[in-house]
Amino acid sequence: MASKSLQAAPQEDLVARSRAMRAVLTLAGRVAQSDAPVLLTGESGTGKERLARYVHTRSRRARGPFVPVNCAALPEALLESELFGHVRGAFTGADRDHRGLFEAASGGTLLLDEVGEIPSAMQVKLLRVLQDHEVRPVGSTASKRIDVRIIAATNADLSEMVARRAFRKDLYFRLNVLAVEVPPLRDRREDVLPLAHEFMRRGCATYYCGPCSLSPEALDPGRRLRVPSTRGGRAPPHPARLGEVGRQPHRNRAHAWHRSEYPVAQAAAVRGWHPRSRTKIECSTFNRSLS
Ligand SMILES: Nc1ncnc2c1ncn2[C@@H]1O[C@H](COP(=O)(O)OP(=O)(O)OP(=O)(O)O)[C@@H](O)[C@H]1O
Ligand SMILES: [Mg+2]
Repeated sequence: MASKSLQAAPQEDLVARSRAMRAVLTLAGRVAQSDAPVLLTGESGTGKERLARYVHTRSRRARGPFVPVNCAALPEALLESELFGHVRGAFTGADRDHRGLFEAASGGTLLLDEVGEIPSAMQVKLLRVLQDHEVRPVGSTASKRIDVRIIAATNADLSEMVARRAFRKDLYFRLNVLAVEVPPLRDRREDVLPLAHEFMRRGCATYYCGPCSLSPEALDPGRRLRVPSTRGGRAPPHPARLGEVGRQPHRNRAHAWHRSEYPVAQAAAVRGWHPRSRTKIECSTFNRSLS
């Protein structure tokens, strides 16, 4: 019988109304009991980082740090020193020893986000760290023992990248010990409205908007989730990928929220405000809460 800790128990701000997402949480709860590396896959904005935090907080490392690092955001030279640290004098400007993120995550969990973006030279170094449980700071001759649980996340198809030699097979197997796939929102539509409520709540809490609610149009199931037509072979951002909308350049994002294809966002209403300024504020509030 599953122990209590293995049962899916969503955290307050983690939406999992759909059967698919509840299954993911149950799996994540089991994964949390192990210390083996986890590979989280799923489309952009499906909640991989949120799920990584869920795994961490339910693991025996919950009292330790949770350190996310976006591997795509750092240039190759910086990535090595950010991950492994460096010693004073290792390169121009290294005027003191610097602790890497592996060390910072000691006793806790390190999330390697966008792991598919790690350059090939760094893939070799990362593989060595995962095998030896040791890091060698840039410019140092000594290695340091590390005690870190690794969670990797990607929206890329790593097995396909392995097939075309864009990602090391041995590293892929090291990371893909436990696998959790987060389904896209279009496959768990019951989560859309609770998520809209949750984003509204976060936006209002962040910007002190006072009580907020979704308008009747937003709650109308007939209008909800109308999928925009495909133009030029590529569908515009879908409301079921709210995170994706959140990551577009501001002008496009605002445009997306205004369009009738996004009734949930478009009709989100903050009571008592003039419709024009209200829409503007809705857009920026949603965009910021999604970024
Ligand atoms: N099930 C959920 N419940 C509550 N909030 C969620 C859920 N899923 C995603 N979110 C929220 O949506 C936003 C995007 O989620 P997150 O950053 O975890 O996605 P991601 O899969 O890591 O995206 P990317 O691939 O672009 O990095 C965050 O604000 C997150 O808190
Ligand atoms: Mg992410």
